[in-house]
Amino acid sequence: MKTFYLETFGCQMNAHDSEKVIGTLLQQGYTQVPEPEAAELVLYNTCSIRDKAEQKVFYRLQHFKKNAGAGKVIGVLGCVAQQEGEKIFERAPFVSLVAGSASYTKLPEMLVQLEAGNRRVTGLTLDTEDTFDTPYTRRDNPHRAYITIIEGCDKACAYCVVPFTRGPERSRTSESVLREATALTERGYTEVQLLGQNVNSYRDPSPTGYDFAQLLQRTGELPGMRRVRFTTSHPRDFVKEIIDVIDNNEALCNHVHLPVQSGSSEVLARMQRLYTREQYMQRIEWMKAAKRDIAITTDIIVGFPGETEAHFTETLKMVEQVEYDAMFIFKYSRRPNTPALNYEDQIPEEEKVLRFQILTELQRTVQMRRNAKYVGQREEVHVEGFNSATGQWIGRTSQNKMLNFGDPSFPAPTGSETLVGKYTDVLVTRASPHSLAGERVGTQSPVVQ
Ligand code: 5AD
Ligand code: SF4
Repeated sequence: MKTFYLETFGCQMNAHDSEKVIGTLLQQGYTQVPEPEAAELVLYNTCSIRDKAEQKVFYRLQHFKKNAGAGKVIGVLGCVAQQEGEKIFERAPFVSLVAGSASYTKLPEMLVQLEAGNRRVTGLTLDTEDTFDTPYTRRDNPHRAYITIIEGCDKACAYCVVPFTRGPERSRTSESVLREATALTERGYTEVQLLGQNVNSYRDPSPTGYDFAQLLQRTGELPGMRRVRFTTSHPRDFVKEIIDVIDNNEALCNHVHLPVQSGSSEVLARMQRLYTREQYMQRIEWMKAAKRDIAITTDIIVGFPGETEAHFTETLKMVEQVEYDAMFIFKYSRRPNTPALNYEDQIPEEEKVLRFQILTELQRTVQMRRNAKYVGQREEVHVEGFNSATGQWIGRTSQNKMLNFGDPSFPAPTGSETLVGKYTDVLVTRASPHSLAGERVGTQSPVVQ
């Protein structure tokens, strides 16, 4: 019996790649085990978006090797693999496989080489047209599924490694995407998340020729589809049609993640983001003018080289103005191969920390204000779990907000009955910056569709 252990770092693209890698390994006769100690093949699917993420991978490799690695075959997949390439064999000589995401279609062949005892197996080509389409995906979540629609990235943001680690953009055909989505609904999935580094530049390579808005609409129209999300968007390619499609299709979620990175046009230009503050705000206005109450979330980098206090103040003002529902804040991290690595006006770490704290605090108050609006409202949630410590069900609203709720008529899952995977209405009674709380309403029947 061939056994493997796989650990994933990084973004949703990586999480979904891992689901496909696992499916492929199972298909090849491997069995997954929950601990690396029990596996013959140990794989790390890695992230290199920031220095810390990359260090974590090497720490994990060294630590594992020292404690339990003897006799095991170890592989590094994902963005660190692509970025560092064969240098990994020097830095961590016990590693036998180094493969980036653009090579996963060749995974079965690479496994054969490993099984034959080859201890320097690589998959590092980036000049590929391939998308990693596999029918063997082993999904972790039985209710919400990821679907890749586009891989790679053709932008050149000055701080970002992704174009180097995931290669050029390539879209799947709409037929293949919709076939996968249909198969998922037939298996009982009601929520999908369309994935890509930049979903907005999706372009159907088949004669159907859908753009992203059209693909979104078709996905939302599939029978049995209750919720469609998508991530991540690039403001430059984000067109108004996307909002129109959301406005006109109930199944599309009230949520757009639109990373801004900075509120200053000068900083945006140095970041090579290809839009100005004004152009970004135009997109925000489209969302605010929509019929639906669209939640807006974003990513912001603080301490990008050359970011002055005045630039940072512009970001703070923008955050107040937009009133984001959630935000991921990052301290700028120097990355290999990227233009900003060599910018001279790097910001000291203490200043980055300070800006991070100021922005975090501001966003906390903004989120409190945003979430307080929902108190007294009735929201539909897709139930994701039950917290036995608090006796609360955990659900997510269309706007991607966590909503913890009690239900006196169904206080806990029983043997075969559960709310998990179902949709139900909840009256919101309390709000905090990071979640909502409430009581289930509208039905006394234990399980609803
Ligand atoms: N330093 C800090 N944050 C970064 N991000 C991408 N590259 C870097 C970097 N070098 C952030 C961006 C992006 C998110 C996924 O990670 O905000 O949107
Ligand atoms: Fe990390 Fe970016 Fe690679 Fe995702 S695409 S794993 S965030 S480096």
